[in-house]
Amino acid sequence: MTTTTGAPRPAPLPLLVLGQGRDLESERGVECPGDLPAPSDPGLVERARAAKAALGERVFVLGHHYQRDEVIEFADVTGDSFKLAKEAAARPDAEYVVFCGVHFMAESADILTADGQTVVLPDLAAGCSMADMAAIDQVQECWEQLAEAGVAERTVPVTYMNSSAAIKAFTGRHGGTICTSSNARTALTWALDRAGEGGKVLFLPDQHLGRNTYARDLGRPLEDCVVWDPHRPMGGLTPEQLRDATMILWRGHCSVHGRFSVEAVEAARREIPDVKVIVHPECRHEVVALADEVGSTEKIIRTIAAAPAGTAWAVGTELNLVRRLAAQFPEQRIAFLEKNVCYCSTMNRIDLPHLVWALESLVEGRVVNTIAVDDETSRFARAALDQMLALPGETAKD
Ligand code: 13P
Ligand code: SF4
Repeated sequence: MTTTTGAPRPAPLPLLVLGQGRDLESERGVECPGDLPAPSDPGLVERARAAKAALGERVFVLGHHYQRDEVIEFADVTGDSFKLAKEAAARPDAEYVVFCGVHFMAESADILTADGQTVVLPDLAAGCSMADMAAIDQVQECWEQLAEAGVAERTVPVTYMNSSAAIKAFTGRHGGTICTSSNARTALTWALDRAGEGGKVLFLPDQHLGRNTYARDLGRPLEDCVVWDPHRPMGGLTPEQLRDATMILWRGHCSVHGRFSVEAVEAARREIPDVKVIVHPECRHEVVALADEVGSTEKIIRTIAAAPAGTAWAVGTELNLVRRLAAQFPEQRIAFLEKNVCYCSTMNRIDLPHLVWALESLVEGRVVNTIAVDDETSRFARAALDQMLALPGETAKD
């Protein structure tokens, strides 16, 4: 493409600044379509209380553990993404489900709730960079290439909850399952069994959760894993590498958890007597391999709550949760594992002004920031989510 002067026109910038522009094909942000209350408004807490009281049973507010305290205060239920998906499905009477979390979680809630229910995400810019690392076109292209290599029919997709509805639907279409960090072990065991002798799992989009579950939880060899790079022909793999692999890991990661380091674990062990290191399975394998405990946000909370008073913990997950744990369990000695990691910026997009705006709009009869997945996508994504909910012995134990 050229400009009127004949000079080549620059390609559109692939990056979308949060809060500006609109990209419905991805998890990336859009602008707030209304007038937000000022963050400095001293009446915000009272306004949120009043709006929630006015809505009563008509509204149900879900809060992920990474949300700010000011938002968690108004959540009817808090949880990890697995628990929140189940809670959303279990509230058929709530007209509005206000999801304080990120976009893929709200999409899953919309898929799991009844037709007459509306899911609201207080800030549409609350996406997830990991979910954005697998676009549906890339995943479809990958599948076609697996078919050309003669391995697709023996491959079962396992997709982490942190993915767009379109990729969940792809998973449902191809007989796979969704998993969360709570049930990845059960999901992977199911998928390997289904793939059968010589079969494979395509694990999307978090390579670390896939690798950690396979190697640490199932005790299987790291050498069985290859990484599919969507930006390279044939994922950057040779036909032999593909043929020999059991786990095809999508090249995606969490930009927050990817920053926890081996050096930080070593420093914690050096500096904190008798410390126990507990990390989320989105951390890199080298970090997870050095940890004492690994688990979802729900498991991290449960483990710390159940430990004898005075236990020292270095916690490797999002900072809002770690700070809350330190406040909730003063009898424990809780440290943040890594000095170079900060909040999940997209989780933090949901703040009190956005929550107040969303709730007050509902009170006034205006439904804002609706998350609605189209019927066709929803049907197949639901199949993959239902498969997750039906996994053998399914519990949120880990
Ligand atoms: P959980 O399922 O453990 O809540 O994790 C979700 C998430 O986004 C972690 O980064
Ligand atoms: Fe996504 Fe990572 Fe934020 Fe979780 S912590 S929502 S995986 S960017």
